[in-house]
Amino acid sequence: MIRFDAITIFPDIFKSYIGESLIARAIAKKLIKINVHDLRKWGKGPHKQVDDRPFGGGLGMVMQVEPIFKALKKIRPINPSMGLRKKAKSKIILFTPRGKKFTQKIAYKLSKLDQIIFICGRYEGVDERVAKNIADMEVSIGDYDLMGGELPAMILIETISRLIPGVLGKPQLLKERVSKSGGFLEYAQYTRPEVYKVRKVHKAESWRVPKVLLSGDHKKIDKWKKAHSKVIE
Ligand code: ADE
Repeated sequence: MIRFDAITIFPDIFKSYIGESLIARAIAKKLIKINVHDLRKWGKGPHKQVDDRPFGGGLGMVMQVEPIFKALKKIRPINPSMGLRKKAKSKIILFTPRGKKFTQKIAYKLSKLDQIIFICGRYEGVDERVAKNIADMEVSIGDYDLMGGELPAMILIETISRLIPGVLGKPQLLKERVSKSGGFLEYAQYTRPEVYKVRKVHKAESWRVPKVLLSGDHKKIDKWKKAHSKVIE
């Protein structure tokens, strides 16, 4: 069982995602556990403040270190009420576009952990002391700016969960996508009908499945799959 903890000021964003499809099934089968923590629980004052203006000036607000530190004190594996072994392998990930680019390879490594804690930033950023002193790893899901770390957290949850034995219906699905070098293999696929006839404005077209896939010749089919795949080390 791998346990995910997401710290966010928008816990509801996760609700429908966690309640649907293979993720919901993996939770029901106790293969994964997802806890979403509302950071405001650790916020200050009547408004449960979790952000403030940046020192040195600048636009927008910055998330404060204190509520995040307090949240982590509660949900780290050393807390026995969490039901995790004392020696549980756990990592704290902070999402930021400046972080290490997330890949399938990183997903494999993370899938061996017992617990992954996600800090989902919002506003214009997170006090740098979180990256320096609290997080084990800063992760980016790509070179673009999002509004927060909630989507990145769901992307990591999904990519990592499908690597946990039993989460995908057929374990062969996993094997087929792993190349010899341990990379990631994705190839073009077709299903019925063999020919799909369409009428475009000026002409009729037939979109056909490549003949080789209908040939039953597995050597040739494998060669075709390789030629139409992408391998990422
Ligand atoms: N927060 C904002 N943009 C992000 C990105 N591209 N990856 C991870 N976290 C982010």
